[in-house]
Amino acid sequence: MRIEIDRPWDMHLHLRDGAMLNLAAPHSARHFAGAVVMPNLVPPVADADALRAYRSRVLRAAGTDAETFTPLMTLFLKNQTRAELEAARETPGFFAVKLYPAGATTNSDGGVRDFGDAEPTLRAMEKLGIPLLVHGESGGFVLDREAEFLPVYRDLARRFPKLKICMEHISTAAALPLLDEFENLFATATLHHLLFTLDDLAGGLLAPHLFCKPIVKRPEDRAALRAAVFSGHPKIMFGSDSAPHPVEKKECAGAAGGVYDAPVLLPALAALFAENGALDKLEGFLGGNARRIYGLPAPRGKIALEDAPQDVPAFFEGENGLRVAPLFAGTRLPWRVADGNFS
Ligand code: NCD
Ligand code: ZN
Repeated sequence: MRIEIDRPWDMHLHLRDGAMLNLAAPHSARHFAGAVVMPNLVPPVADADALRAYRSRVLRAAGTDAETFTPLMTLFLKNQTRAELEAARETPGFFAVKLYPAGATTNSDGGVRDFGDAEPTLRAMEKLGIPLLVHGESGGFVLDREAEFLPVYRDLARRFPKLKICMEHISTAAALPLLDEFENLFATATLHHLLFTLDDLAGGLLAPHLFCKPIVKRPEDRAALRAAVFSGHPKIMFGSDSAPHPVEKKECAGAAGGVYDAPVLLPALAALFAENGALDKLEGFLGGNARRIYGLPAPRGKIALEDAPQDVPAFFEGENGLRVAPLFAGTRLPWRVADGNFS
């Protein structure tokens, strides 16, 4: 079987910087029309100058220009003033502001501690029409972190009715009803939360390459996410949360959170949607919904996917001895992008 879809969008992507950026960016740029690029560098991308400079590094590393791969840049929420937000909005490629609760995930120490403090920035974003992307977890028992955070989403959605708020990488059944409850709430979903549960991560030998924030959840959570995505839920967009770490930061005590799946996203998604009789919903999930929700540019070309096998390397190598293991490292995938390259 062979299908053609519009060049897709990845609405939540970590590209990093330096050698890791040079390794990771081409994997996304080759087949994607664009991606929402996360700002959790050290230090975070928190003002217009940092955003402009990071965008040029991303385009250079992608080996492309903004015509074929559009990096949509984000600012790390840090109580920016209205003038600072306006300066960011003038910057080419600026897209949204990302809220990290302090300490919730990789490089988020400088995130929001007190939502009261963030009020003026959120109010200004609402006025300026700047979307808010939220890493939706708080402290507490790891399986229920997202559930504990749902009142925060409700509160934000009520207090800022004109603000477009995206629940980034939803992972539980409990988050889904909020999409019906509030017109201004949207969500991204990852490949790994559609594929895996806690048993895959820790039910047998520990699989550190499946360890991410938010953690993969219960079978009933995965089933609810699948049902929503495979039925073509109009408010759920694909956001891979592909988040590369060097192999020695994953295969160690104190492993970093993050699944590196940018190279295998399209074959793995095609296989999963095909197995579930949902191939006709793939294009909407991979861009149609985002285009409607955010007014992204019209499609630029197609990507063909076919059910022909492809072997995934054990790792990808970058500069200075950098090695990164992709999802499905060393295995054979049943689908591939028809040009034979990894995405
Ligand atoms: C991400 C990272 O490594 O930057 N890690 C992850 O587990 N997903 C940060 C994030 O999105 O939480
Ligand atoms: Zn992320």
